Amino acid sequence: MSFAIAVDGPAGAGKSTVSKRAAQKLHFVYVDTGAMYRTIALYLLEHDVDTEDEEALSEALSKIRIGIEYRDQTQCMFLNGEDVSDRIRTPEVSQGASVAAAIPAVRQKLLDLQRSMAAEADVIMDGRDIGTNILPDAQLKIFLTASVEERARRRYLELSQNGTACSLEEISREIEERDWRDSHRETAPLCRAEDAVLLDTSDMTLDEAVDALTQLAKERMS
Ligand code: DC
Repeated sequence: MSFAIAVDGPAGAGKSTVSKRAAQKLHFVYVDTGAMYRTIALYLLEHDVDTEDEEALSEALSKIRIGIEYRDQTQCMFLNGEDVSDRIRTPEVSQGASVAAAIPAVRQKLLDLQRSMAAEADVIMDGRDIGTNILPDAQLKIFLTASVEERARRRYLELSQNGTACSLEEISREIEERDWRDSHRETAPLCRAEDAVLLDTSDMTLDEAVDALTQLAKERMS
């Protein structure tokens, strides 16, 4: 049987970076489920789909084919055959993904894909509802979080280093907005599973967070 580690938590807590590094150490496959929601959001944005129009949404969803390939251990996302891995990382798509993720039909479309990936390999899967909904029997569940201030600061540094003009206040506001939307939606809201281990990385370095997760995994596997 495969081993699954579910990593949930709010936007910008470092889930993907920590999970990716821990997956390399443990020789697990890292699955970024947020990228799947982003891929759907990109299609909806590019095709001007009114997400409140059920018929239009359902027609659009039927036309979306999501492909996932791993290149150099990096998850690449394909939308109807086109590599969209870079294009799903804009702030517009971030907000769009958060809106799309609140729609039950969108979540339903991704459920089987996520479960089948966990059935086929040892995975570290990160998202918002992995421990509570997608993989309720995961052998290890982590709720990885950090304060809003710290998450905004990290995102600000990342964007500044890429040469993207941004303001710390705006980033904080966007993070709070997404937190609120992700944790107040009716379907599969972001919340800590009862049996999830809380990992608050506000005062941890990246290496410390990776070590903490890896250590927990090793304990559970032995
Ligand atoms: O992790 P991320 O920022 O790439 O996720 C993009 C959006 O998708 C985020 O607003 C929350 C949503 N999401 C979700 O609802 N459930 C998941 N399992 C993963 C992401």
